[in-house]
Amino acid sequence: MEKTDKILDLFKNDKDAYHSGEEISASLGISRQALWKHIEKLRETGYAIEAVPHLGYKLLGVPDRVLAPEIKWHLNTKTLGKTVYSYEAVGSTNNIAYKLAEEGAREGTIVIAEEQTKGKGRLGRSWISPDASGIYLSCILRPEILPNEVPAITLVAAVSAVKAIREFSGIKALIKWPNDIIIADRKAGGILTELKAEMDRVNFAVLGIGINVNTKKSNLPKGATSLKEESKSSRDFSRVDLIRAFLEAMDREYLKFKKSGFSAIRSELKSYSCTLGRYVKIATSNGKKVQGKATDINKSGALVIKLDNGTKQLFLSGDVTLLR
Ligand code: BTN
Repeated sequence: MEKTDKILDLFKNDKDAYHSGEEISASLGISRQALWKHIEKLRETGYAIEAVPHLGYKLLGVPDRVLAPEIKWHLNTKTLGKTVYSYEAVGSTNNIAYKLAEEGAREGTIVIAEEQTKGKGRLGRSWISPDASGIYLSCILRPEILPNEVPAITLVAAVSAVKAIREFSGIKALIKWPNDIIIADRKAGGILTELKAEMDRVNFAVLGIGINVNTKKSNLPKGATSLKEESKSSRDFSRVDLIRAFLEAMDREYLKFKKSGFSAIRSELKSYSCTLGRYVKIATSNGKKVQGKATDINKSGALVIKLDNGTKQLFLSGDVTLLR
């Protein structure tokens, strides 16, 4: 743990107390001068720290930023978020996480940023990621599954995100199979899972999730929405609290998935689906396009489409448009 994290820990463990410089520097094994430098560094990051002569320091406020110590603070997870890298602006958190995974970063490592300048969406699209308003998060996973089972991880993340949004905000988010988070028929989030694999073995997966949280309409692409746009309150949501809720939900769902496979989350996924029962168009990456009624998500997570001629087809991935 870094020294600044330890200082924050001390403050947060006894929030209303003043902590004397003597007490803090002794417990960290550093000089008073070094402590002062760490306090200044925390202030520069946006922490409001009061210093009262003869009493000591007190934490008055934390910045509204997605900082690693705030995300990790008493996070109730077994695997996710034990290591968190937080950045101001990056190209894409997925690219950073991919590189870290290649260098051996452990499972559950999180990369998060306030802003992405080259945010990536599915199918070569871009993901608009304006500063300090959304969640742009990537997670390194090392599941012992076959490459063809990886699409299920996107579904695990979608269920976790919807659960977290519902619990946190009360907003009825839904899943458009396989990776869209939908609120009131508009896209509020998406998931991009990237993979390094051999024929019969997954080296790692990078699970990237973007959620429009406090994003203003003028900064959103056409047809998209944000939690703030859909909520009745004029207050901003705490992105840190939502990230923590997502990581705790994803940690539980991912463990269930590793233990029992996709069947562990299938019924929940179906209950949150806005795709099932609808007449849809699906386009696959090999250029195939079909239309029909989405009737089921099968035991492997594939979407079952009943075509107009009555036959059924399975899709493990694809771009779905809801027609009616
Ligand atoms: C989609 O719906 O097309 C997927 C969007 C995924 C966006 C996230 S934001 C964090 C991570 N980093 C990226 O560059 N993309 C994903």
